[in-house]
Amino acid sequence: MHRILFVCLGNICRSPAAEAVFAARAAAAGLAVAVDSAGTGGWHVGNPPHPPMVAAALRRGYDLSGLRARQAVVGDFTAFDLILAMDGANHAALEALRPRGHATPLALFLDGVAGSAPRDMPDPYYTGDFDTVLDLVEAGADALIARLLHRG
Ligand code: 4NP
Repeated sequence: MHRILFVCLGNICRSPAAEAVFAARAAAAGLAVAVDSAGTGGWHVGNPPHPPMVAAALRRGYDLSGLRARQAVVGDFTAFDLILAMDGANHAALEALRPRGHATPLALFLDGVAGSAPRDMPDPYYTGDFDTVLDLVEAGADALIARLLHRG
C-alpha cells in the first residue's frame, strides 16, 4: 500500500484534483494506494474544492465534491510514504515544515512526466484554466502509476 499526499497552496484546486484523479486511475490500474491532499496555507480549511474545479473534474468523470480542505501538518511526514508538491513554492513550504531527521520523499508532482510538461503546475485559482490543470494532473497521475507499478 502506497500512502501518498498531494499538496498545493489552498487545497481547493490542484491537489484535490490530483488526489481524486490519481485515486481513480490507480484503482483502474490495480494499484493499492491511500491518498489525501492538503494545502500549505490555511485560508480554505474545511471548505469543499473550488466550484469550477469540481465542475471541470466532473466533466471527466472525477467526483471531488466530498473532499474538504485541510492544511499540511508536521505529522504528514510520518503518515505518508511520499509527498508530492504541485509547484516549487509548495515544495519550499513543505521543506520548511519537515521535521528534523525525517527523510520522507518530497518531490514535484510533474517531475515524473516526460516531455514538455512544466515542472510547476499552473494555479487555476489565478489562471482560470481548469482544463489545462486536469490535462497535467492526468499526465502526472499516469507517470506516477507507471513508476509505482515498476517498483512493485
Ligand atoms: P490551489 O489554488 O493551491 O490549487 O488550491 C489556490 C486556491 C486558493 C488560493 C490560492 C491558490 N488562495 O490564495 O485563496
